[in-house]
Amino acid sequence: MTRALAVSLVSLLVALLSLVTALFAVFVPPFPTVEGREVERVGRAAADEATLLDHMVLMQRYVEKAALASDAGNAALTAFYADKISERAGRVIDGGYVVDGIDVSAIAAEVADPRADALVQAAASGDRARFDAAYARMVDGCNTCHKRAGYGLVRIVRPEAGAYPSQVFEE
Ligand code: HEC
Repeated sequence: MTRALAVSLVSLLVALLSLVTALFAVFVPPFPTVEGREVERVGRAAADEATLLDHMVLMQRYVEKAALASDAGNAALTAFYADKISERAGRVIDGGYVVDGIDVSAIAAEVADPRADALVQAAASGDRARFDAAYARMVDGCNTCHKRAGYGLVRIVRPEAGAYPSQVFEE
């Protein structure tokens, strides 16, 4: 082996070692620390709240639109929104949301899910009176959970007038 070849081989080895060290530094996660875990926990809780709020924004939207569709006598559209509400209630349950130590997902399973199911069935029946009764129970479910979760200041009612000038609710 010539001296030049030996030097090249050693340089190559050093380069490879540096690469492995760099890859290790980049991809191996830092050892968890108490502070690190705390930051992660708080971050996760904040993210949970954000997605729970996203569900709430949509819940309110679909509940409003279900009433507007029903008032317009549009059974198919009413059923569409009732399904959306029920699906959303399922997501609140599956999300495993705990807000300020209160298991919101468990309350959703108890309070929202059965009422959303009843709403879906009432909407599918096309019977307006049955829908109105199921709707009132659903809205009471929203408010019951808000109270139990410490957000009683958020009170939901059936809308009186259309709030969506850009959408047609009649058939
Ligand atoms: C299982 C419990 C639960 C149910 C059921 C529930 N909510 Fe909520 N809702 C919450 C919690 C908790 C908050 C507060 C979340 C936060 O601020 O972190 C909230 C907040 C809200 C807000 C305030 C945020 C905003 O977008 O203005 C609205 C509106 C809302 N909910 C609408 C509804 C409607 C409409 C229903 C029923 C169709 C409903 N919620 C059902 C738990 C629930």
